[in-house]
Amino acid sequence: MSNQDLIQEIQQLKKERNAVILAHSYQRPEIQDLADFVGDSLALARKAQEAECDVIVFCGVHFMAETACILNPTRTVLLPDKEAACSLEESCPAEELAAFLEENKDKNYYVVAYINCSIGVKALADVIVTSGNSQRIIETAPADRPILFVPDRNLGAWTARKVGREMTLWNGACHVHERFTRDRVLEMRAQYPDAEVVCHPECQEPIRLLADHICSTEKMIPYCRDSKAARFIIVTESGILHRLRKLVPGKEFIGMGFEQCSCNECEYMKLNTLEKLRNCLRDMEPEVRIEEDLRRRAEKPLQRMLDLSL
Ligand code: 13P
Ligand code: SF4
Repeated sequence: MSNQDLIQEIQQLKKERNAVILAHSYQRPEIQDLADFVGDSLALARKAQEAECDVIVFCGVHFMAETACILNPTRTVLLPDKEAACSLEESCPAEELAAFLEENKDKNYYVVAYINCSIGVKALADVIVTSGNSQRIIETAPADRPILFVPDRNLGAWTARKVGREMTLWNGACHVHERFTRDRVLEMRAQYPDAEVVCHPECQEPIRLLADHICSTEKMIPYCRDSKAARFIIVTESGILHRLRKLVPGKEFIGMGFEQCSCNECEYMKLNTLEKLRNCLRDMEPEVRIEEDLRRRAEKPLQRMLDLSL
């Protein structure tokens, strides 16, 4: 079946099911192009919360679909591929965090969790952040409590420096962003000397030090649009290149992948395909389901984040 036929079928099924399709900026171009909304984790969380239709098809990874369930529990949330996980989420199992907090009860940590984590971790957190609002949220953290930042040591270290506040960092990371090396960035800089290097804060410090600008996926769009530069080396997952090329025409965007290596692709994000999207709308599965007690506990820190980032 051609992509065009699949797209037609998806549009038809979407009407029949009264569904909305939300997609993260790391999704395949053809999925981004047919989605009702494309965005970063923060914008997608808001869209999911506001969704009034019966079904939310979440083209992203599991924790994102789970977040949609937490914020809008009366909708059916579908994830086209149930194996779409996240290495960053996996680097902080809820039981390990609970044990750490129990062992360090005397410290009375204020737990800040990056949205890339499981519902179990969210339920243990005081507040959630995304890469787009981590500075703003941490600035509101109580001054008299030490901060524990989970699970991403890179976003944590970058934010700590930005807000000038020490934080204890969980030792987690995203395997995609950790694949980028300083040598490769230097090589690309030499190849495109006029280009600006824009990187995601999930990158390691040696990369961040080479960047002209560090920001979340969503903020890359206005940054590149407003910059005087005509070319950009984009140090994050490849999916954002499609969005940048579409929304910032006339400028050139160069990704970190190369011929022998699609090292800038998140294998989990790319598990979703048009065919699986069609199948999930047709079969109404895989559906993401969560337990109500856990949902209520995870909703509080998520809602706190949404209220603070208005
Ligand atoms: P954003 O928060 O920028 O959407 O990024 C999510 C993500 O998974 C980054 O790897
Ligand atoms: Fe998770 Fe990294 Fe993939 Fe983002 S790019 S979804 S952090 S594994």
